[in-house]
Amino acid sequence: MDARDRLIVALDVSSIAEAEVMVQRIGDAVSFYKIGYQLAFAGGLPFAHDLIGMGKKVFVDLKLHDIGNTVAKGVESVAKLGATFLTVHAYPQTMHAAVDARKGSGLRILAVTVLTSYDDADIAAAGYDLTVPELVTERAAQARDIGVDGLVCSGEEAARLRAIASAGMVLVIPGIRPAGAERGDQKRIMTPTAAIGAGADYLVVGRPVIAASDPKAAAEAIVAEIAGAAR
Ligand code: C5P
Repeated sequence: MDARDRLIVALDVSSIAEAEVMVQRIGDAVSFYKIGYQLAFAGGLPFAHDLIGMGKKVFVDLKLHDIGNTVAKGVESVAKLGATFLTVHAYPQTMHAAVDARKGSGLRILAVTVLTSYDDADIAAAGYDLTVPELVTERAAQARDIGVDGLVCSGEEAARLRAIASAGMVLVIPGIRPAGAERGDQKRIMTPTAAIGAGADYLVVGRPVIAASDPKAAAEAIVAEIAGAAR
């Protein structure tokens, strides 16, 4: 895979006007954008359609979780939009519904095993008698067995999950900080080089690109680092 196609820039901005300016400034340095809650609920889904029309790929990060029928109908709509990736929470019923509903389309389903803001106490409060690594491992194995296309995980989990995932599954890693970048609120960060070394197929990067004084140059530097690490 071309290094440029392995960088996914998180369009974490609050309006379509800001998103349009950012995409314009970044130009051909980036081919893949992630749209999450903030932009999706501010007109981001019609904008996703525009991005796809411009030849960009779109990752819809809405972490679906509902009854199977509702998940399936939502997945069908996201598939019609032409998106490339969609996240769901890694509950077996949800994953089955999403995988069945994306058949025949170009959409790929990514499972979120355990949110990275959760620690063992949060898992216990939710009623699980497991540690976070145990629950991540169990859900990743379920995702593989159900035929989910990939996993979103922290850089720290990547090497362990690469061993559990099937060969065709992709690992998508956020929390990436090029050397010297601000870590922001991210607690567990990795450089692009370390993440590729740990088995990442795609890197999700937000603020180090969109808050940079020159977003295009920041994206190009990350792509160059991915290319160097992948050699
Ligand atoms: O700005 P930053 O590079 O920290 O943005 C990372 C992006 O990845 C954000 O859109 C964030 O919601 C997302 N993400 C994350 N950690 C996860 C899952 C998704 O940071 N575990």
